[in-house]
Amino acid sequence: MRTPLIAGNWKMHKDHRQATDLVRELDSLLADLEGVEVAVCPPFTALGEVSRLLEELSSRIVLGAQDVYPAKEGAFTGEISPGMLKALGVRYVIVGHSERREILGEDDDFIAAKVRAVMDEGMVPILCVGETLEEREDGRALSKVEGQLQKDLAPVRAEEISGLVVAYEPVWAIGTGRTATPDDAQEMNAFIRSWLAERYGEENASEVRILYGGSVKPDNAAELMAMPDIDGALVGGASLKATDFAAIARFRD
Ligand code: 13P
Repeated sequence: MRTPLIAGNWKMHKDHRQATDLVRELDSLLADLEGVEVAVCPPFTALGEVSRLLEELSSRIVLGAQDVYPAKEGAFTGEISPGMLKALGVRYVIVGHSERREILGEDDDFIAAKVRAVMDEGMVPILCVGETLEEREDGRALSKVEGQLQKDLAPVRAEEISGLVVAYEPVWAIGTGRTATPDDAQEMNAFIRSWLAERYGEENASEVRILYGGSVKPDNAAELMAMPDIDGALVGGASLKATDFAAIARFRD
């Protein structure tokens, strides 16, 4: 059984004070939630405060980061190492988000190195993959995602695969209010699982959580989560409002 994961990607929102306010509110809304894992991924500047607060509250919410640099330490001005994140109690690290691929020009080799670096530190990468609107309209969605998986997971061995989360995030659905239909999202997530099964074996692939991301809101979460290969959500905009994010995490209610 795969425990659903609902992760909030706050992107470049919330300073450290706003972040702790939001986490306090979320913690009280989610204190009695069972059977769903909830993670928040604040900006780097808020990770320390949020980490301390989660510990103080003995919260069930787990901590994630939005990015990492794939080296242990060194002359990498402005960057953050996997060990620094681990030291703050970070469990999940988002890797390969389309905004970083597109705006910051990250390529698949760099993303593969990040996946490896996160795993080497004993944390869990949330690897984001997904096609653009043009690629979907040209019938290239599956081949685009397959190419990303092939390159980004190149350094991952079969016995490590259960310690991985993949998030299917169609670029055209991010921040647009346009969600993939549950059937379209299921089709891609099933494709991702079958690709993992072929490469790593059925049993290993059946343990990987495959999320959907792209305009997930309280009113569409339940129908997406009902699909057999959608094991949770990576939530952007709606994760910034405690009541909305809590309602998504409570998709079973
Ligand atoms: P939105 O939920 O704002 O569409 O963002 C999705 C996303 O990019 C999560 O990583």
